[in-house]
Amino acid sequence: MINTIPDTKKKFNVEDVRKDFPILKRLVNGKPLVYLDNAATSQKPQAVIAALNQYYTFDNANIHRGLYFLSELATDQYETARLKVKEFINALSASEIIFVRGATEAINLVASTLCRAKFFNSGDEVIITHMEHHANIVPWQLITDRKQIKLKVIPINDAGEVDLDAYQSLITEKTKLVSVLHISNTLGTINPVKKIIEIAHSKGIPVLVDGAQSVPHLKVDVQELDADFYVFSGHKVFGPTGVGVLYGKTEFLEMMPPYQGGGSMIRTVTFEKTTFDDLPGKFEAGTPNIAGAIGLGAAIDYMNQFDRNELTDYENTLLIYATEKLLGVEGLKIIGNAKDKASVISFVIDGIHPYDIGTIIDTDGIAIRTGHHCTQPIMDRFKIPATSRASFSFYNTKEEIDKLVMGLIKVKKMFA
Ligand SMILES: Cc1ncc(COP(=O)(O)O)c(C=O)c1O
Repeated sequence: MINTIPDTKKKFNVEDVRKDFPILKRLVNGKPLVYLDNAATSQKPQAVIAALNQYYTFDNANIHRGLYFLSELATDQYETARLKVKEFINALSASEIIFVRGATEAINLVASTLCRAKFFNSGDEVIITHMEHHANIVPWQLITDRKQIKLKVIPINDAGEVDLDAYQSLITEKTKLVSVLHISNTLGTINPVKKIIEIAHSKGIPVLVDGAQSVPHLKVDVQELDADFYVFSGHKVFGPTGVGVLYGKTEFLEMMPPYQGGGSMIRTVTFEKTTFDDLPGKFEAGTPNIAGAIGLGAAIDYMNQFDRNELTDYENTLLIYATEKLLGVEGLKIIGNAKDKASVISFVIDGIHPYDIGTIIDTDGIAIRTGHHCTQPIMDRFKIPATSRASFSFYNTKEEIDKLVMGLIKVKKMFA
């Protein structure tokens, strides 16, 4: 077993860390970039860019099928990346780590293959929360053309927290799966997923956790959570786009049929019958995103240099600072005030459309997200069409938050 986690951790210092991310030096509209859209995608450290460059410049070959030097090298790097992911989220075995395109594909894979495994009967229920990303709503609706599955939704309060009593009362003998997000990309809420899993497991119901927003902010231990499935995207965790992870307990992955058919996922093929590879190969048909997986491995190495708790603590100081400063802007209201929150702040300003806010502050090089953030049911719940969202990573600074606030004051003056 390789040990990818260094014994001594590097002391976190934001100015040093910023030097690792080349894009943070660039200008946008003549001003230094202030990148506050980390919930959409994170920036990449030089180490990740270098790993991609190294692979394509010197190591490129297809994996798992060549007996020559480069193919074996590429295979070794790809499988090492899988081991890094396994250790990163503390899975029991590397064969429980399936490389996919991202969180979206991972959830579609689970929905589709559980359905084909006849896991669901018509009338069965899947419980989600009111704050899901569309990626954890639509895949369950798509399978209803094969099985009449009912989606039941855990309500949220005005602060943006799930109602655990309501959750318990939604569970019936027809509940087959609970599928919830760990951290909301819109509200920033950190959901009590361990409790949600405990409650589901006490009734024998498995749980899928959408960790797209949690893995960048928290140290995740899938065994400690006892999640049956856990999914995330590489690009939100400082790795490349087009690669992501489906973690699944072996018992479920064994029971599920392949998602796609093709090369690599088979043991034998005749025109009459095909037998499938063992895990994880069974779920990785065709040539995978080899460079993406290697880049994700480099991103994990990058994060492992630090004590993850130190990064989370720093992000918390940014959250507290930004919350206080933003609330000082007259007419600004924060949407999502959960007690347990990650560094994601959605807000609205009286009389000004979020699109105007986003467009105007962009002229000062400030990148925030505006819109429904792929969570239209949240917009309906709070009776708003859209929000502006600033989401912070450990490379952001209080000075950048000050610039955001100054930008918002400028927008307000323009609309006064
Ligand atoms: C909570 C959550 N789930 C799922 C996704 C989908 O991730 P991807 O588009 O990388 O597949 C996102 C992306 O914003 C997200 O925030």
